[in-house]
Amino acid sequence: MESIQAIKQRFGIIGNDQKLNRSIEKAIQVSPTDISVLVTGESGVGKESIPRIIHQLSHRKHGKYIAVNCGAIPEGTIDSELFGHEKGAFTGATSTRSGYFEVADEGTIFLDEVGELPLTTQVRLLRVLENGEFIKVGSSKVQKTNVRIVAATNVNMFEAIKKEKFREDLYYRLSTVEINLPPLRDRKEDIHLLFRKFASDFALKYKMPTVKLTDEAVVLLLKYRWNGNIRQLRNVAEQVSVLEQNRTISGNTIQNYLPNIGSNLPAVVNNSKSESDFSSEREILYKVLFDMKSDLNDLKKLTMELMKKGSDSDVQKDNEHLIQKIYGEEKDEEFEAAVEDLEVLSIPEHTEDMDETISELEDKYHFAEEIEEEETLSLHDKELELIKKSLERHSGKRKLAAAELGISERTLYRKIKQFDL
Ligand SMILES: Nc1ncnc2c1ncn2[C@@H]1O[C@H](COP(=O)(O)OP(=O)(O)OP(=O)(O)O)[C@@H](O)[C@H]1O
Ligand SMILES: [Mg+2]
Repeated sequence: MESIQAIKQRFGIIGNDQKLNRSIEKAIQVSPTDISVLVTGESGVGKESIPRIIHQLSHRKHGKYIAVNCGAIPEGTIDSELFGHEKGAFTGATSTRSGYFEVADEGTIFLDEVGELPLTTQVRLLRVLENGEFIKVGSSKVQKTNVRIVAATNVNMFEAIKKEKFREDLYYRLSTVEINLPPLRDRKEDIHLLFRKFASDFALKYKMPTVKLTDEAVVLLLKYRWNGNIRQLRNVAEQVSVLEQNRTISGNTIQNYLPNIGSNLPAVVNNSKSESDFSSEREILYKVLFDMKSDLNDLKKLTMELMKKGSDSDVQKDNEHLIQKIYGEEKDEEFEAAVEDLEVLSIPEHTEDMDETISELEDKYHFAEEIEEEETLSLHDKELELIKKSLERHSGKRKLAAAELGISERTLYRKIKQFDL
C-alpha cells in the first residue's frame, strides 16, 4: 500500500496536519472496496482530491472516472444526464443517449455537491445504490450498472434532511463511510507552507521573483478565519504575487487582501466559484486597472491640494499617506522629480477666482469619473498599444521608450512584466 506521503505527492496535496493525514489514510483504506463514501468539509478544503485517490487506488482505475457537479446541471436535464434517455423522450431528444451511469460501468462516479440533487433524481439514485438498477428517461427497460459512487457536499446534510430537501435513506446509503476534511483555520501549521508553495508556483507562472512574507504577515495569515479555505489562500497568494512590486510582503500589505480581517464573526461566504476564483488573467488585469484608477484618483487629490496651496512643504507633510500609497518605494526617484517639476512651474497665488475655477474643475472631474468606468477596458488596450509601438520604434530600447512615454524606466519595466510584453 502506498504511503500517505507518496499519495500526497502524487495528487499534489500539501500539508502535514494530523486530521488531513487521517482523511487520506481513510481514503486509502476504503479504496479497494465498493463502499460508498461521502466527503464532507467546508468550501475550498480540497474535497475533490479524495474521490480521485479512491478511484486511482481501486481495481476500477482502468475504468472511467466521471465527476458530475450536481449543482451545475439544470433540474430539467439532470435525470437524462445521469441515466440517459430514449429517442423522443422529450422535445429535442432526437436520438437515444447513454447517461453517466451507463458510460461509467466498472468505473467510479463522483457526485459533487450531492445536496443539490432534485428529489426525483434522489429516488433514481437510491435505486442504483441499492441494486445497481436504473431506467433511462422515457424507457421502461431496467438496465444494470456496476458503478462505485463517491459523493461530496459542503452543506449540512442534517439541515437539508430536516428541511425535506434531501432523503434521509439516501444520505445513509451515500455515507457508509464519511471522510471529513478540516477547515484551514484548524490547520495552522499548514497555512504558511501552503502559501509558500502557491507563491512559488505563481512566481514560475508569471515569471516574477517569489514573494516572501514578513513574520508579522505570517501571524496575520495564521489568525485569519479563511472562510474560503485553501481556495481563498491560493487566490490571495496569486493576487499578491501579481500585484505587489515589493516582493517582501509586510503585515500592512497582506491586510489589504484579507476581507473582514479583525472580525471573528463568520463572513458571508460566496459559494459561487466564478466570483471568488481569481484564476483568469483577465480578472488579474481588471484588478491591476482598478488599482491604477485608484492611484489616479489619489493623484487627482494631490494635484488639487497643490493647486490650492501651491508647493507649500506642508502639502507634502499633510499628504504623506497618499504620497506613500502612490509612490511607495519609488517615492525617492519619481516623486522628488515630480515635485521638482512642479516647483519649476510658477503656481499662481491663491485667489477667490481660483476657488471658482477649482469647483468648475471638480464638476468636470465628476463627469470624467462617470465615463471613466466605461472606458477602462479601451484605456488598457490603448496603454498596451502605446507601449508596444514605442518599444518597436526604439527597437526594444527601454530607456528611449520610457523617455518617449514620459515614465521612468522602472515603471516601464513593470508594465512590460504586467502585460507580458
Ligand atoms: N492540500 C492541498 N494542497 C494543495 N492545494 C490544495 C489542497 N487542498 C485544496 N487545494 C486546492 O484548493 C482549491 C480548492 O480545492 P477543491 O476544489 O478540492 O475544494 P472543495 O472542497 O471541492 O470546495 P467546494 O466545496 O467549494 O467545491 C483547488 O485549487 C485545489 O487544488
Ligand atoms: Mg468541489
